[in-house]
Amino acid sequence: MTSKNIVVLISGRGTNLEALLNAAADERWEDTPGARVAAVISNRGDAAGLAIARKFGIPWHVVLHTEFGSRESFDEALARTVDRYAPALVVLAGFMRVLTPGFVRRYEGRLVNIHPSLLPLFPGLHTHRKALAAGVRVHGATVHFVSPDVDNGAIIAQAVVPVRPEDDEASLAARVLEEEHRLLPRAVKLVLEGRVRCENERVVLDRVGADELALLAP
Ligand code: GRF
Repeated sequence: MTSKNIVVLISGRGTNLEALLNAAADERWEDTPGARVAAVISNRGDAAGLAIARKFGIPWHVVLHTEFGSRESFDEALARTVDRYAPALVVLAGFMRVLTPGFVRRYEGRLVNIHPSLLPLFPGLHTHRKALAAGVRVHGATVHFVSPDVDNGAIIAQAVVPVRPEDDEASLAARVLEEEHRLLPRAVKLVLEGRVRCENERVVLDRVGADELALLAP
């Protein structure tokens, strides 16, 4: 059985990590033999997601960005820790550091991120606030391959939620987060199975149904 190690990078609360761990423990992942979350790495010592890694018995590491003088030296240390697990896939799940082009190239085609908006709309921070300010009627989340440009890589899958007239930032964020937790495990599974690949910065599909790539919440 080929090992399909996943390394998850986090900075904070880790609910997407938890969704991935729950999905990987689920029987439906049995047709993805060897797939497992092999390690969790945080750039912050106080990330709540580390307790989730502990709860699931997953090896975890902290690589503090504050201990490095440059982005390059932090990314090199991060890569050394990631590479210990020879990952088939590296997942950014609320990892709040911009990665250097060198790091992104090293994991080209096996580095994915989840972003809380329907990219290319609302890259960067405060996506729910931006969606409300823009008056969009639908909002959502995107899983994409990471490219050197932040929040600009090839799109794998998206989840769409309605924006309701009574929404505030918190209610909208909660609705999107719920869908993130469905979206991320599905997208990760598709990539691990080789049914979604990134070639020349474009997504190539193999035996993938449209309903697997677009989740529409009522
Ligand atoms: C999520 O909204 C994710 O899309 C964004 O950061 C947040 C992380 O949340 N990149 P959590 O740490 O997974 O709970």
